[in-house]
Order: sequence, then C-alpha cells, then structure tokens
Amino acid sequence: MAMIDGAVLERTIRIVEDQTPELASHCMAVPLDYYRSEAFAARERELFMTKPRPVVASSEVPEPDDYVVRTSMERSLLVTRDKEGVAHVFFNYCRHRGAEPASGCGNARRHSCPYHGWAYNSKGELVAMPLAERNAGLDYTKLGLVELPSEERHGLIWAILTPGAAIDVAAHLGPVDAQLSGLSMETMLYRNALPYEPIGANWKCVAEGVVESIHVPFVHRGTFNVDPGSDGERFASATAVDLAIYDRFGPHLRYCLPLFGPDGVADLRARLAQELTIDWHDVAQVWLISPGVLIANDSWGLDIGFMEPGPGTDTAFFRYGWMGPEQAPDGMLSLEDMTNRAGAAVREDAPVWAGCGRGLKLGQHEAALIGRNEMGVQLFHQALAEETGYTGLGLA
Ligand code: FES
Ligand SMILES: [Fe+2]
Repeated sequence: MAMIDGAVLERTIRIVEDQTPELASHCMAVPLDYYRSEAFAARERELFMTKPRPVVASSEVPEPDDYVVRTSMERSLLVTRDKEGVAHVFFNYCRHRGAEPASGCGNARRHSCPYHGWAYNSKGELVAMPLAERNAGLDYTKLGLVELPSEERHGLIWAILTPGAAIDVAAHLGPVDAQLSGLSMETMLYRNALPYEPIGANWKCVAEGVVESIHVPFVHRGTFNVDPGSDGERFASATAVDLAIYDRFGPHLRYCLPLFGPDGVADLRARLAQELTIDWHDVAQVWLISPGVLIANDSWGLDIGFMEPGPGTDTAFFRYGWMGPEQAPDGMLSLEDMTNRAGAAVREDAPVWAGCGRGLKLGQHEAALIGRNEMGVQLFHQALAEETGYTGLGLA
C-alpha cells in the first residue's frame, strides 16, 4: 500500500486547515499558436516515439502465448508473452507485404497473417509460410516481426516505439519510480474503459483536463456526485474542490488531493504519532508521467489514461482504463463497476475537450489563461516546454 510521506502529509494538512490550495505565483498565458504549431507538434511526437510508455498492463497477457493488439501513435502493436514468460512488443506488420498478422486478443501459439498466411510465433519469429519451397533459401531469422525495446515494470509493459533504442523505465521515471512501487500495480487487473477514442482537440488540451479538479463539479456532477457546497464522495470538502499540493519531478508531475476535511486533521495526526499507515485513502495521488500517461488513485484502485497526439495538431487519441485487485473491498463498487464509472466520466470529458479543441484552433483571442489554482496545468506546460524547447509561455 502506498505510504504518504510525512512532508507530503504536512503540506496536505496545511491546505486543508487553510482551505487554500498550493497556488502558482501568477496566472499563465498559453498562446493559442502553441496548440496550432506544426513545428512543436513534431517535437512532441518525437517524445512519444522515443520515450518509454506503457503499452498494455501485464495482467492483459498473464499466460504464455497470451497476446493483445493495441494501437499507439497510429501504429499497430502486437504484445505477446513467450513460452518462457517474457513479454515482447512488436510492430504488428507482416514482413511479406505489410498486412497485420494479429488482431484482437487471446492466446495463440502462432499469428498467421490474414493475407497470405505467413506465421509468426510469440517471440515474433517467422516460423512458416505457405508454398515455402517456391522461395527456398530465404533466411527466416531475418524476417521476424520488428521488435521494440520493452520492459515490464509496475504491472505494465512499457515500450519505446523506436527499434534499437535503449530502455530504462526506472531511469525515465526518476523519483516517480519509487512512488509507483508503493501502489502494488503488479497485483492489479486492468480493464479497458475507453478503447482508443479520437478527440477533436490538441493532445495538450486533453492533458490539461486530467491535471485539474476544478471541472469535476461541472462536468462530472452526476458521475461523482460532487456538488459545490455539498459533501462529495471524492472530495471531503467539495467547496474547495481545488485543494491540492503539487510537485514536479523533471518531466513528470504529481498532485495530491486530501480526502479528509478540517475535522479529520486531529485523527490523522494521532494516527501519524502512532506510526499507523497514512495512504491513498487519506491522500489521493495523481501522476502525469511524460509523455501523456495518467495514473490516479480512485477509490480502491487506479484510473489509468493514455493520451497521444493525432495526425494533426487538432486531434488526439485517448485510451482510459481502471486497475485494481480482483476483489473489491466490502461495500465498494466492483472492478467492473469502477471501470464503467471511469469510462462514463471520460465520456463526459470528451465533448468538453472537443469544444476546447475548436476554441484553441479557431479562437481569435491570443492565449489560454491558466489560473493560479490550476498548478497541475501550469506544471504540465512548463515541463513539456522544457522538453521541447518552447519559450512562449507567458504570465498573465
Ligand atoms: S502480407 Fe502477410 S503474408 Fe502476405
Ligand atoms: Fe474529467
């Protein structure tokens, strides 16, 4: 169980006592040109092609010869687990004339290309082709599926979409690696809540939408039963729906939300004095891991989201799921119900994001304005701008 460290808890208690979140020093102006720039879109795509990102959860391919096909950056990927239990990620493109040998998910010893029947095993090796004697002398060892660098860590199978690149997920995550270790994600099951949804907005607009809570009472009023002025399920004091503390770890960021109100502080301090566990049931944690990966405590498990740039600057793709232990704690919604709720919430976000997308694309004002109490959004832009060399973020 993820422990909340003492310094984080102290800061969280302070914002609850003050009923004021950690605030940025200024409002931020993000020029609309930034969302429309092909040049920066190309640099951002470069990040998505060269940094490690989770492709599937380990629990989606638990057994030898299990496989799942997934799309990332518009590319079809085949994820397998071989007979020795090692996970692999391949470009799902046949070495004959490029068709996609695998589809869907399941368990298969061989993936036979639907076009002319070339067959690959779960190590990606070409193992058979019809009428093989007509092409005698071909070196099958050079005709396997193209494999991507991959690593299994934190219950996820990570890959870099560039063959031959070196992968080191722990190094990429930095301090976030130890934070994720506390979540026991390797014991969790993954359920897809939203497969791979096209969103009519720049991907940065989607990222903005997952690192602030101030939209929740408006967009998710029904789903989360959160209403300004009343007690919500997720926010102990919904009148201060923006209560959060923020940290940046290089390109990644985390924000923490208190799940207790002012009247819970004394109890929390007493538990701390007794060295009892303070965990995500007291303080929810949300990470935005560069590039484009959301991991967020939600009830007894995790929301997990993957946002990616689409082919133009005005489209994105978003996949969303829920992870948790197989068995729900007593009195809690089941794994399936939590997954459905997560999907319902994102379906509420999607049309609003599409509206933002149109505004950011077509609006004739100069900049989007990010408030002092939207520090997650500000940190996201600062971190990304540092990665891509963008210098146009302004104060407002
Ligand atoms: S394209 Fe796959 S067998 Fe021909
Ligand atoms: Fe939302």
